[in-house]
Amino acid sequence: EKGGYKHFMYKEIMEDPQALVNALVGRIKNDRPFFEELEHYEEFFKNIDRIRVVSCGTSYYAGLVFKYFVENNTDIDVDVEVSSEFRYKRPHVKEGDVLLAISQSGETADTLESVRLAKKHGARIVSIVNVVGSTLDRESDVTLFMNAGPEIGVAATKTYVAELAVLYLLGLKIMEINGYWNKEADEILDRLVRMPELLENVLRKDPQIRELSEKYKDFKHFMYIGRGYGYPTALEGALKLKEITYIHATAYQAGELKHGPIALLDPEFPVFAVMPDDSLFFKTKSNVIESKSRNARVIVLGTEGNRSLEEITSDIIHVPPTHESLYPLMMAPVIQLFAYHIADMKGLDPDKPRNLAKSVTVE
Ligand code: F6R
Repeated sequence: EKGGYKHFMYKEIMEDPQALVNALVGRIKNDRPFFEELEHYEEFFKNIDRIRVVSCGTSYYAGLVFKYFVENNTDIDVDVEVSSEFRYKRPHVKEGDVLLAISQSGETADTLESVRLAKKHGARIVSIVNVVGSTLDRESDVTLFMNAGPEIGVAATKTYVAELAVLYLLGLKIMEINGYWNKEADEILDRLVRMPELLENVLRKDPQIRELSEKYKDFKHFMYIGRGYGYPTALEGALKLKEITYIHATAYQAGELKHGPIALLDPEFPVFAVMPDDSLFFKTKSNVIESKSRNARVIVLGTEGNRSLEEITSDIIHVPPTHESLYPLMMAPVIQLFAYHIADMKGLDPDKPRNLAKSVTVE
């Protein structure tokens, strides 16, 4: 059942490209995003000025990517909130608002309660779910399925990839519905379709990522940093590391370093810098150079062909170039593998991290 792999998590990371294919299949028509499930509900997203998103953990970070995507490409506001916070506040939703709920399992208690609360106030519930027939699926007006197949490892891996894929398509769909479609949207869609092959290339870097895991496995702390689309990747990288290796990791927007967290850095507190070739590259680079001046060791996750990364460190993992909004997808296997190998080398079982359950059905 593990298909020759030592752990489900490893097998499921290796399935990232297939999960992406499965999430995209049948969802592009005439060079535009297409959701059969949404056919009669497109008006949900028409002329809206705000979308609320609720989710937890890794699904919350996927929601953050969606926020950057929609807000960078339209004038629509996206408020992403952790479900366990949303459900205990005054619900800022009114009749006709869209609440987007993201949940792999479709059984996360806080997300379900957030949905019920929003529904009571007249919100339309659109959910992104992997498990067909789950409670969230049944309680939503529309469900967009991830189609990732069952995920056995407790840590979300291939379903994060699938969530991102569905969210990019939905973001593009919202652009189309609201008259924001442009040449860049064509390019993003085109690059998304070609990404599974590139993810295979990223997975081929596994031996190199493993070497880096070996080199860094004994550190007690990590600081993940990124800007813009790199920030959710930093958060997800830190979460993966914490939950399966039990190493303390924190994540910040790179620009926040000098507002406090840089005080932590020293040779025993490495920085994992998410810095693809995007419009914020030079901003992040200057933050990394500041970290180096505190003698922090630096791992860089960057774009192939960027020679200036070597000025910073020799611990570099490259991914192929893509549209800047799509780097969270391109980089997902790297942060997953880095954490996986450390857990494995420490003799831990990444499929069953201590204190964690696959679905959090109690609050
Ligand atoms: C992290 C992880 C969790 C889940 C979270 C939400 O690897 O798996 O953080 O992402 O518990 O779960 P779902 O998406 O099922 O609502």
